[in-house]
Amino acid sequence: MNKDNVIIFDTTLRDGEQALQASLNTREKLQIAFALERLGVDIIEAGFPVSSPGDFNSVQSIAKEIKNSRIAGLARVIDKDIDAAAEALKVAEQFRIHTFVATSTIHIEKKLKKEFGQVIEMATRAIKRARNYTDDVEFSCEDAGRTPIDDLCRMVEQAILAGATTINIPDTVGYTIPSEFGGIIETLFNLVPNIDKAIISVHCHDDLGLSVANSIAAVQAGARQIECTVNGIGERAGNCSLEEVVMILNTRADHLNLVTNINPKEIHRTSQLVSNLCNMPIQSNKAIVGANAFSHSSGIHQDGVLKSQNTYEIMTPETVGLNTNKLNLTSRSGRHVIHHRLQDLGYNKDDYDLDKLYERFVRLADKKGQVFDYDLEALVFFTNLDADDDFYSLESLYVQSGSKDTSTATVAMYCGEQLITEAAIGNGPINSICRCISRICGYDIEIKDFKVASTSQGTDALGQVNIIAEYKSDSKVKVFHGMGLATDIIRSSTYALVRIANDIRCSEKVGELRERNVAS
Ligand code: KIV
Ligand code: ZN
Repeated sequence: MNKDNVIIFDTTLRDGEQALQASLNTREKLQIAFALERLGVDIIEAGFPVSSPGDFNSVQSIAKEIKNSRIAGLARVIDKDIDAAAEALKVAEQFRIHTFVATSTIHIEKKLKKEFGQVIEMATRAIKRARNYTDDVEFSCEDAGRTPIDDLCRMVEQAILAGATTINIPDTVGYTIPSEFGGIIETLFNLVPNIDKAIISVHCHDDLGLSVANSIAAVQAGARQIECTVNGIGERAGNCSLEEVVMILNTRADHLNLVTNINPKEIHRTSQLVSNLCNMPIQSNKAIVGANAFSHSSGIHQDGVLKSQNTYEIMTPETVGLNTNKLNLTSRSGRHVIHHRLQDLGYNKDDYDLDKLYERFVRLADKKGQVFDYDLEALVFFTNLDADDDFYSLESLYVQSGSKDTSTATVAMYCGEQLITEAAIGNGPINSICRCISRICGYDIEIKDFKVASTSQGTDALGQVNIIAEYKSDSKVKVFHGMGLATDIIRSSTYALVRIANDIRCSEKVGELRERNVAS
């Protein structure tokens, strides 16, 4: 029997991003978009263009760069939202406008303070307006999971008549259970006369831990698009996790008879990238992408797996792109060896700048002796993080710290062409470095959260530092996230703070641009 295709609509950059402590910048969003494209995602929801100039820029850049996935932008059923989405997306060859309004009684009465009939009118007007810009319009009935079924059927029928080509049924608050949610989809197929004119999509939240199960129940009832996020990130408890839902469809194709266009071998790498950039660690027992997802602890299990892998493994780690780590790259390994190793790990030559990467590799290999695959992958990630147009870069660092005294730091940084040095004292080494950087850049940076993790194993592991910092400008407080990687965590912390300084500078520039646009 031929298997039906399920469209994978990824909303990591919209629903996922809106739940982060610190927003992603355009470059980080692009990095994720490229990974999603390589993963084989059909549709990437890149953002909510009207929500901020930063979001608008990101959606536009993603629409310009991504060729193999269709780009969608979110819009309320408001003219200016739809116009902004179309404006940001028009650089793409094909794009989707995704418009939404709440349909549940509680949302309509308490939030919108409208009648159901008015909501239908707002929705159909917006869909028609969006259709003037594109043939691909998605309409979402927000809080569909709690919408009376007759109202939902009425809304869906009218939305399709107005020109929506995809109808999304979100369980916005993660309230339904699988039999119930599958039942809603089945009822829509039975009662909405024009249902065959649109693709039915689902968008489930995980408040009761049922988002994946609900999405599977929905495709069993006929839905053919699943909205999901990498690592399940998103509002509150998150969204349906892409890797879980895809691997269910993949592993249980015998039962479900459904396929996707996702290349599962890209799952592990994409998951790591999203976790790093979003500063959202993955719990170790998380299905598919957790550190323990493929490790066997009990003696009985280990014995079984040694005898035959499928005794305790329903899929292999290699299926999701997890390679067992190999070593043996040293400072004597040449550039072509690095290039080859990265090819084996699934990287294309366009994924990294070999010159920059090799320089970092040699420095690391000199320190560590042996460089493992996970080190190499971390180097690719961090080398890509530093942009050519970064204004600030670290030249040198000196820190003195002890058990009794305050710490003293001296930091020298390039600000464009100019080298500036500052010294400061603080209640610890990171605090004194932060003060130096704040003085050099003229930004009031305050560290709010500081985490250190090792990216590999052993005493010579690379230390990854994640810093969340606040920056106050005028009366506004903005939150930034910076990451740094080095064998020494003081240096990692400094890199993370330099990253934050560069991001503050970029965000100030976007603000300036907007002020100029508004003024002109
Ligand atoms: O959860 C939700 O209802 C949403 C819609 C905008 C699709 O995110
Ligand atoms: Zn959502």
